[in-house]
Amino acid sequence: MFSLKGKSAIITGGGSGIGKAISMLFAKQGAKVHIIELNADAAQQTVTEIEAAGGAAVAYGCDVSNQEAVVNTFGQIGEIDILVNNAGIAHIGKADTTSEEDFTKVFNVNVKGAYNCLYAGIPALKKSGSGVILNMASIAAVVGITDRFAYSMSKGAIFAMTLSVARDYMADGIRCNSISPARVHTPFVDGFIAKNYAGQEAEVFEKLSKSQPVGRMGKPEEVASLALYLCSEEAGFITGNDYPLDGGFIKLNN
Ligand SMILES: NC(=O)c1ccc[n+]([C@@H]2O[C@H](COP(=O)([O-])OP(=O)(O)OC[C@H]3O[C@@H](n4cnc5c(N)ncnc54)[C@H](O)[C@@H]3O)[C@@H](O)[C@H]2O)c1
Repeated sequence: MFSLKGKSAIITGGGSGIGKAISMLFAKQGAKVHIIELNADAAQQTVTEIEAAGGAAVAYGCDVSNQEAVVNTFGQIGEIDILVNNAGIAHIGKADTTSEEDFTKVFNVNVKGAYNCLYAGIPALKKSGSGVILNMASIAAVVGITDRFAYSMSKGAIFAMTLSVARDYMADGIRCNSISPARVHTPFVDGFIAKNYAGQEAEVFEKLSKSQPVGRMGKPEEVASLALYLCSEEAGFITGNDYPLDGGFIKLNN
């Protein structure tokens, strides 16, 4: 079960955290993995680890917010069966404390970046006849989270894009779903704690862990396992859905 043998998969942001875990697992299950990353060195490091484990992968340095670069990179890759829109950035702020520059940056990476990859990738996925798209949303798409105005906006857009794409390309055999993790322990989390809560790192880490009723953060490998299922043929009946992976965050936090 859950074999990706013979499949070609693009994973954005595969140089770190959740995208890296998805890249490693998809390669282990037999996919040829193409990592599209702003940080080309990090992507190359993932490729080295995949190859050391006997898998196949290629790294491409590319900013997903740049449509020309995305179209060129997808052109180099050619045929694909799976697209995982995972690259994303965090931001802390409320509506009146988010600068126009920060708002635009979050929009360009998290929203336009996903659109650019859909724009460039859907023609290739149509040719596959059984294409799969998986978008990385967040619980912030459906739950009000303090101080996450721009980030929540961007993940709400991912949630809506998933439905739109699932509907529009159903006749082409393309399935499209999203995963909404609560807090997952990755460099993304460590980075924003360091940037926004200097001097209170341990306290904030503890608080963020306890915000999941199960009392801990998720692991990138746990997101990768769900991603594998949703992108496998075993999930052939699943499209147009979002899957929370949240330690009880959405329904048990009372
Ligand atoms: N970690 C969490 O708690 C959490 C929770 C919910 C959703 N998510 C989402 O999961 C996804 C991955 O998060 P993570 O925690 O693994 O983050 P991460 O920071 O560890 O990894 C993200 C990767 O994306 C790359 N990236 C950033 N901007 C890019 C761009 N413009 N073009 C190409 N690549 C770019 C980064 O270089 C990095 O390697 C994001 O979309 C994030 O919003 C994370």
